[in-house]
Amino acid sequence: MATKRAAAKRPARPRLATVRRIEDVRRTVAAWRARGQRVAFVPTMGALHEGHLSLVQRARASADRVVASIFVNPLQFGPGEDYRRYPRALAGDRALLAAGRVDLLWMPEVKDLYPEGERTRVRVTGLGDVLEGASRPGHFEGVATVVLKLLNVVMPDDLWLGQKDAQQARLVEQMCRDVLLPVRVHRSATVRERDGLAFSSRNAYLDGDHRAQAVALSRGLRAAEQALVAGERSPARVRAAVRRVWRAYPMVREDYVAVVDADSLRPVRTIEGRVLVAVAARVGPARLIDNFEWEPR
Ligand code: PAF
Repeated sequence: MATKRAAAKRPARPRLATVRRIEDVRRTVAAWRARGQRVAFVPTMGALHEGHLSLVQRARASADRVVASIFVNPLQFGPGEDYRRYPRALAGDRALLAAGRVDLLWMPEVKDLYPEGERTRVRVTGLGDVLEGASRPGHFEGVATVVLKLLNVVMPDDLWLGQKDAQQARLVEQMCRDVLLPVRVHRSATVRERDGLAFSSRNAYLDGDHRAQAVALSRGLRAAEQALVAGERSPARVRAAVRRVWRAYPMVREDYVAVVDADSLRPVRTIEGRVLVAVAARVGPARLIDNFEWEPR
């Protein structure tokens, strides 16, 4: 009896409905819409961290209902990349999404999104073949294709993406505009560990020494920002500021350090408008990216 009473007093655990099938997502969202509710969507590949949680919080504040998806999309991984070993942490992910008061978790399987015989690919010209796209050919075709499929099922009012993947966010914004999808694409600020390292599912690959060296990315970016604030307008000298910091981190292997127009993602000759300062580097087993946007006043 006493046990029953104690159980009755325990606060109810938030419930998280989880579905796999496309029809179930469509039916649930249609019922919300019929009641006039606004729907926000947070697509993920799982292995959730503080960055995802901040997206969920922003989504929660922007709408009546929040849908999240977990799908490790094979199409956006190149040959030899980490598709097979990409971290998968379902129990923890579900608990975090429930605590974040997500209403519906959608977990499609590969055959749901890529049924036999499907052939269509989405390419956002100009934005998908620079920076990450140059280093990872085909990556953004995979991202754009899966995001369009996910959006066609959920049909949200608001889509939430992270600034950490600035190029992805820019490309998805452009794609939604180009194919006339009535969705508002929002970016949520990068969330960082105490020492500045941007939260990323791939940080799970970092062991002690590599973890310590990974801070080079945010420290390099901080040096770039200080140079900009001090009046530097030469992209070459801003890039040099990052590389000067990286000299103290021998395990950091540069992939790129770029200063590009924040909209077109093309290199700039001099810094006059809004720019994206973006870096990518391999630190031991992990390939990491980070960035910030900046505009002269
Ligand atoms: O940023 C991610 O986690 C993925 O690229 C996304 C947007 C879920 C598409 O697979």
